[in-house]
Amino acid sequence: MIENSGVSETNNCPEYNPNVVAVKLPNTIEKFVDELPIPPVLAPLSQGEDSAYYEVEMKCGSHKFHRDFDETLIYGFNGIYPGPTIETRRGETLHVKWINHLPLDHFLPVDPTLHDSGPANDEVRTVVHLHGANVAPDSDGHPMAWFSRNYAQVGDKFSRQVYLYPNDQQATTLWYHDHALGITRLNLYAGLAGFYLIHDSKEEDLDLPTGKYDILLMIQDKTFREDGSLFYPPAPIVRAFIGNTMVVNGKVWPYLNVEPRKYRFRMLNASNTNGFDFLLLDEDLNQHPFWQIGTDGGLIERSQRIEKFPLDPAERLDVIIDFSELAGKTITLRTEELNLAGQVEPFKRDVMQFRVGFECEGEDESEIPKKLRDVKELKPSRKLKTRRFVMTQDGNRLTINHKGFMDAATETPEIDSVEIWELASPTFNPNSPLGIPPNITHPIHLHLVQFQILNRQDVDVTNFNEEEWINTGEGIILGEEHEPHPSEKGWKDTVRVEPGKVTRIIVPFRNYTGEYVWHCHILEHEDNDMMRPLMITEKNCD
Ligand code: C2O
Ligand code: CU
Ligand code: CU
Repeated sequence: MIENSGVSETNNCPEYNPNVVAVKLPNTIEKFVDELPIPPVLAPLSQGEDSAYYEVEMKCGSHKFHRDFDETLIYGFNGIYPGPTIETRRGETLHVKWINHLPLDHFLPVDPTLHDSGPANDEVRTVVHLHGANVAPDSDGHPMAWFSRNYAQVGDKFSRQVYLYPNDQQATTLWYHDHALGITRLNLYAGLAGFYLIHDSKEEDLDLPTGKYDILLMIQDKTFREDGSLFYPPAPIVRAFIGNTMVVNGKVWPYLNVEPRKYRFRMLNASNTNGFDFLLLDEDLNQHPFWQIGTDGGLIERSQRIEKFPLDPAERLDVIIDFSELAGKTITLRTEELNLAGQVEPFKRDVMQFRVGFECEGEDESEIPKKLRDVKELKPSRKLKTRRFVMTQDGNRLTINHKGFMDAATETPEIDSVEIWELASPTFNPNSPLGIPPNITHPIHLHLVQFQILNRQDVDVTNFNEEEWINTGEGIILGEEHEPHPSEKGWKDTVRVEPGKVTRIIVPFRNYTGEYVWHCHILEHEDNDMMRPLMITEKNCD
């Protein structure tokens, strides 16, 4: 099935007809007619005692998003979307050869004005990043380590075909996705994303729901064309993409039949731009709770009841939903946020449906333990190095402290140091020009590390003095420090930098030195230019 050499034929992928212009309106699509698909688990090509070898081929595929749509073109890992799930255990080393057998021309509109997207690099470029992983720089999927089909074109930082994942970190839900400079938004939107789970014995000792009661949810918003194929706005300069339809595990508004018992759901927002605010409602509009057990970096210290939580692009939340008292009910996962224009999107508010049956297959022996694991809380101190950042904009580009991806590294922390990063987004402009979201939250992601969120504080957006604040920490900060949202406890790799506020995180840098990146995970921002090098340096012994 997987080829090691030569160009695989385009395996009869559907054509993408450039002439279809009409967009499908969400009110013409019937909801909850497709069952939630569960991505298959990938088998290794060889398995040793504590290592395994995999090959994954990126190629085009034929995908049906909805019962009433035609089969349409996607790009997928092994030709499927979402990609197959990779499962491993803490301490097992995986070697993965990521292979590009995609067509030469992208079916979505490439913007030639973005980095590495000009005529010299015109093939479909890819590089795979394992989001949230503790890996060496040359297996991290640096945006310039891209390669096109059969390595015909490669980026400046391309150095190896087989990536090495030591999985030396606690059990958690990671995800792998394309990270090619300048076209990540298109490749991910086309389907290049999948889950990667790390298990460990500490987690297995907890009697959480497992097997078919442990379910992955990749949640995305998309817009479709009349023929059921993907719509993405034409280049150049797409600064935000908000779809009109919700897709979970590749199906539009799916449903899932569940037994009246506990289930674990590992939720991932894999959307391009859209952040969500999730809650559960039954048919009588009664709200039902989630029990949060984990976040980006794995289990949190104590399970907690949450009624509603924000989840921005790339964030994960691990919850248990207890359907045991809900036999016969229909529970809808909903989102509550407003769209960029400040309006309610009536159709997008539904995400998916859980239909609770009357019988359990066996007894539900799973639990929601109070104590999950020890999470050491990092304490800020004046001795720690503090860096300050402002989310800025320069012409058409979105930047950080007015710097883009090609500017020299300024974040050069020493290995084994702990730093405080303060991220301010003073832009709160209701009159911003079309296409520039006025009050968007930037989900900022650091590669390699897991960090903790300290607090947020309001800034005086009209009098905020960027330079003064960056240099001195003085400037116009208003009011008290707000605790992070309850769902933001524990180890995070992505933090919501909310508008009109400064968000503070505390970050330990460990394990590897070398060049990584940090960026906004709004893919339209990341591609246009809200991404910076992260250079972790040797200890300076003096
Ligand atoms: Cu999930 Cu640098 O990305
Ligand atoms: Cu990442
Ligand atoms: Cu952003």
